[in-house]
Amino acid sequence: MTKKWWHGKVAYQIYPKSFYDTNGDGIGDIRGIIEKLDYLKELGIDIIWISPIYQSPFVDQGYDISDYYEIDPKFGTMEEFDELLLEAKKRDMGIVMDLVINHCSSQHEWFQKALADPEGEYGDYFYFRKGKDGNPPSNYRSYFGGSAWEKVEGTEFYYLHFFAKEQPDLNWNNPKMKQELFQMINWWLEKGVAGFRIDAIINIKKDPTFPSYEPDGPDGLVRATKMVEEVDGVGELLEELKEAAFEKHQAFTVAEVFNMKEEELEEFVGENGHFSTMFDFSAHMLTFGEHGWYDGKEVEFDTWREITFRSQKRCEGIGFLANIIENHDEPRGVNTYLPSYAQNIDGFKMLATVNILLRGIPFIYQGQEIGMQNCRMAGIEEYDDIDTKNQYRTAIEAGLSREEALEVCYRYSRDNARTPMQWSGDAQAGFTTGTPWLKVNPNYRQVNVEDELKEKDSVLNYYKKLINLRKSEEYKELFTYGSFEPAYPEKEKIYAYYRSLDGKKVLVASNFGENSMGLELEGHNEKLLLYNMDEPEVSEGKLLLRACEAVVLEVR
Ligand code: GLC
Ligand code: CA
Repeated sequence: MTKKWWHGKVAYQIYPKSFYDTNGDGIGDIRGIIEKLDYLKELGIDIIWISPIYQSPFVDQGYDISDYYEIDPKFGTMEEFDELLLEAKKRDMGIVMDLVINHCSSQHEWFQKALADPEGEYGDYFYFRKGKDGNPPSNYRSYFGGSAWEKVEGTEFYYLHFFAKEQPDLNWNNPKMKQELFQMINWWLEKGVAGFRIDAIINIKKDPTFPSYEPDGPDGLVRATKMVEEVDGVGELLEELKEAAFEKHQAFTVAEVFNMKEEELEEFVGENGHFSTMFDFSAHMLTFGEHGWYDGKEVEFDTWREITFRSQKRCEGIGFLANIIENHDEPRGVNTYLPSYAQNIDGFKMLATVNILLRGIPFIYQGQEIGMQNCRMAGIEEYDDIDTKNQYRTAIEAGLSREEALEVCYRYSRDNARTPMQWSGDAQAGFTTGTPWLKVNPNYRQVNVEDELKEKDSVLNYYKKLINLRKSEEYKELFTYGSFEPAYPEKEKIYAYYRSLDGKKVLVASNFGENSMGLELEGHNEKLLLYNMDEPEVSEGKLLLRACEAVVLEVR
């Protein structure tokens, strides 16, 4: 495998609106990111992905871009962004921008021109189609609920939007539109960004005949992704994108991909793949309900272990996946993947250990490193997220009571991850001196950066040790390039695996069960590298793992 500059790096996702506010308007800003760069450096971060900060009306929190060349004034100025690039570079860190190119905002100049003349030049930058017998052109349901087609008042046209109606899909069959995007991407790369996290990219390939399919829900619609799964040829577009932009800059790219065809993995993240890496969402997908959050599922340990191990094995010899336990679209990982008895500091560290040491590129989502948790809201009014509001409505329509629907949001809402970063025990968690745009999780008095920096055994200090180990001179090759092999698969509630390279072998073992479990070790000469509780019991080739215990051992 050819070595690349980003192999062995640790990445961190910033959700800028909730990261750190320096001017008291209740919204995180670029200046706030600059001020916290040293904090991230200390943590061991090399690559910072920032969720969208482009000009946007914020219908979907910046994932609706109205000008790809501007920074939204909420976040600051282009000069501040340049300063951020410079300051990151000084610290040997790379900035990765979010690239939202499946759709733009309905406020984008292109779309405004298109609306004025759907059959004109800019109309073809999007998908405008005539309706059929007073109905939309096809029966697709958008990701956020309702038809994916929106009627243009006073005309017979509809336009396609996979997400909100304020996020019209861009027509990738239009060469001019594509060139405009490629040019824009190059412009950012030339500025010095290290790469991109690429949003919803699998959706760019459409079947321009837009066939209807058998409905899959009581609304008579079918999820729009059905068409994405049916259509071939996304690979050609992705190659074009790579060649036109990423390749010549050696950019790091991490794609958000659901609905990929299994056999295409190598084309996506292989040696000459479309992307450097893509997120492993296999664990997150275990929570998906058939009709929405209201019939979402609890993660069951055995399935979770099996599915995450399978992901590891399937990219062996092919490439790397990006490993996460949460992001801005998911609830907090500690709430999702830990059973209730393990939702404590030991459990948080345990989950971190097994996740961060997997083969792949670890991505830490802001606040994960201090053990931030889902946040209870008093009512639906306290939520901001467009998806949460839709899902709440869907749940009520399906017959759930208000309390039940709210409970569903507590478990699955994207706002769980979007509450402000908890910097200290001061008012508003030290995030802002003003009124935060979204409620601060009241547990900030116990869970915050300032206190955790001081406490030796905090989750934060454990994350530092963990990242340190991963990147240490002695083990970085092993944790980067070493193979992955499941360990003790027959043991109940034990999540354990080996990472090995050139005769060196490390066991990562943890106990997600409520009872202690004894493991027979391979060999009798082991070296303790890391543990999350007080010193573990290892002797004569035996390891006793207590509930919530995680141990990293070199075995010889
Ligand atoms: C991606 C983003 C999500 C956004 C959607 C539409 O899934 O992560 O936050 O709502 O794309 O851009
Ligand atoms: Ca601000």
